This record gives sequence, C-alpha cells and structure tokens, in this order.
Amino acid sequence: MIFPGGKKMNKIMVELGDRSYPIYSGSGILEQLPQLLQPVAANKQVAVISSPPVAGFYLEEITRMLEPGFNVQIYSVPDGESSKSLDQIEQIYSWLISNRFERGSTVLALGGGVIGDLAGFAAASFLRGINLVHLPTSLLAQVDSSIGGKVGVNHRLGKNLIGAFYQPRFVLADHALLATLPDEEFICGMGEVVKYGAIYDPELFADIEKHVDVLHQSESKYLPGIVGRCAAIKAEVVSKDEKEGGLRAILNFGHTFGHALEAYYEYGGLKHGQAVLLGMKCAAWVSGETGLADPESVTRFNQLVDRFDVRLPKHKPYPETDALIESMRLDKKVTGGRIKFILMEEIGQIRGVFLDDMQPVRAAFDRIIAQDAEKQQ
Ligand code: NAD
Ligand code: GLY
Repeated sequence: MIFPGGKKMNKIMVELGDRSYPIYSGSGILEQLPQLLQPVAANKQVAVISSPPVAGFYLEEITRMLEPGFNVQIYSVPDGESSKSLDQIEQIYSWLISNRFERGSTVLALGGGVIGDLAGFAAASFLRGINLVHLPTSLLAQVDSSIGGKVGVNHRLGKNLIGAFYQPRFVLADHALLATLPDEEFICGMGEVVKYGAIYDPELFADIEKHVDVLHQSESKYLPGIVGRCAAIKAEVVSKDEKEGGLRAILNFGHTFGHALEAYYEYGGLKHGQAVLLGMKCAAWVSGETGLADPESVTRFNQLVDRFDVRLPKHKPYPETDALIESMRLDKKVTGGRIKFILMEEIGQIRGVFLDDMQPVRAAFDRIIAQDAEKQQ
C-alpha cells in the first residue's frame, strides 16, 4: 500500500482467526504509528517499554508523534539479555499498577528481541492480558521475534523457559531504524535470515548468498525484499501452527545447539543470533554425519554461515561437550527424555529427528570449538 508522501508500506497478515494481525514493513513508515494505534489503544493509555540505546535514538520522535492523541508513559529497562528475567517483569508490573494501567491500555514494545519478549510477557500476563504492539528495531526482531506471539523470560536454569503465546495487535517494522544497528547485531539477525532460506526457501537462500556483503549498507536495495520474505515465511508458518504442534518446530533449526552454548556462557558474551549461527553449523554437520543431508548441501550451507565471523567468548574456558548435551536435555522440545533435533535434508527442506546416538552431536560441538581455537592462532 502507498500512503501520503509516496512511501511504500507492505502488509503481511498472520492469519489466526479473530486474533489475526498485520505486519507492516517498509522504510520510513514509523510516522504511520499514530494512525495505526488509533483503533487499538482504546483508552489512549500507552506504555512504551524500551531500553537504551534504542530509546535514545527513537523515543523522542515517537513520543512527539503520539502525544497529541495518546497518554504516553515510558518505562526503561537496562539493555541486554539479563533483563529478560522474572525480576524485571515484577518491576514492570509494579510500575503498571502504580500508574493505573487498565485492561484497555496498550504496551508498545520498542526495541530488539529482548524488549519484545519481556514487554510482550508483561502485556500477556498483566490483568490477564492487555494490548500489545511490537515496534521491532533490530534485524532479528523484524524478521523473527516480533512475529508469532512467543513472549517470555529466561530462568537461571535455561533460556525462555517461562512464557506464553500472546499475539500482538500489529507489528510495525521500519527498516530505516536498522541504520543505527551495530554491525555485530546485524550479523545476529542474519543468523535468523539464513535460517529462513535453509528451512523453507532455497531461492531466498540463493539470494542471500548473492547479496550478503551489501545487505547492511544504508539504503541497501536488497534488504527490504529479503526481510519481507523472512517475515512472510514466519507469518505463514505461525498461521499454520501457532502453538508449535508440528510445523513451527522448523523455526528452531540450530537453536537447540545454540541455546546450550548460550546457557554455558550464562547469556553473556555470546549473543542469541551468534549462538544460532554456530548452532545451525552444528545441525548441518549432524545432518551430514547421520546421512540425512548430502555433503554438498552441508558444505554450501556452512560456507554461507562462515561469511559471518562469530567467536566463542574468552571469559570462560571452552565448554565440555558432555555438559552441553546435558544442557540440551532442558530444551522445550525434549519429549520423554529424548531430544528432538531439527535437521536439514537439503537447503530449504528440514526434518525433526530423535537421535539415540549422541556421538555426531558431540563431534559437532568439538568441531565448533576446534575451529574457534584455530581462529585464535
Ligand atoms: P537485543 O534485543 O538484545 O538487541 C540487540 C542489541 O541491539 C541491544 O543492545 C539493543 O539495544 C540494540 N539495538 C536494537 N535495535 C537497535 C537499533 N535500531 N539501533 C541501535 N541499537 C539497537 O537482541 P536481539 O538480537 O534483537 O534479540 C535477541 C532476543 O530475542 C533473545 O532473547 C532471543 O531469545 C529472542 N528471540 C525471541 C524470538 C521469539 O519468537 N519471541 C525469536 C528469536 C529470538
Ligand atoms: N523463533 C522460533 C519461533 O518463533 O517459533
């Protein structure tokens, strides 16, 4: 759709019956926020939950835009994964209660995946659920975390173990906001972008291979198309399987491995997107080792992942692979004590597999560690 001023705004629907909602995307579309918020924010009371540095870049503009029509209150949380905690949730509840937020009020999550998951869980649980709108500002959040309704926090024993499925009223993804995203964070988002090609769309995978070096240039002409396709894939998968009864599990490609690494580094030093990149490499190797994928697909996949320089943190010794496997047993996809691995058959084709022999998994972690040690020399 074109709106006044000639800017293009794409609309993709997540189809979930009476909980269906649009994902608006485009460059420079933030100014559409007041108009889009009008029918959602019934009582005009809006809680913007954000964190520095995003708040520093965009909050003034957003408040200026919203204030004529809405009663805007701002809650800031410290930046980083450690804010995805029950402690932080408790503090947000106290703030919402003291500021008399009501059932008709709206939480606007302005930030990356951490803010989206945290503010989303607060909105899902406060007064048994108030309106939620996502304004994702990181690449990862624009292609993945703001879409599909997974909200929640970490527990000290594992990542994302507490949460809910709670869909937003809409998502507004303005690609212009990615201009201030640090390169390292852009790479994190690329982990999820590569994932969509690998699990669902070989053509998208080929396009990423072609344009990977220029995607983070400002005004990159390829970025909106690629981000839009990722968002459309996520919307389609969630529309078919909201609560991860089957198909949605493909979105976890590489995540079981990645979560074990993230947990080992105590959610510090190795970012989620970096862990996903390493985790997908492990999943691809295991797919090859178990004979599920042909060697060419595995090599091609890992060559793309290797375009991103991801290092293991140095503040701890390398993990013991057995400890990583133990940590995988806490994964949400464990059924009857068995871990379901999301593996690759070929680029664009994925399958869930229970593995009884953990040797290929151990070997994959060992390979990640050996490659990292080689890079350090
Ligand atoms: P993040 O939210 O920590 O953001 C990364 C960093 O980039 C932060 O420092 C943030 O302040 C900064 N940032 C974000 N946007 C910026 C911008 N436009 N300009 C400058 N700086 C900016 O991390 P993330 O990678 O966005 O998200 C990771 C989180 O998302 C993890 O907690 C992960 O578990 C979660 N996640 C959730 C889902 C889901 O479906 N709910 C899916 C994938 C990941
Ligand atoms: N990022 C995995 C999911 O949304 O299901």
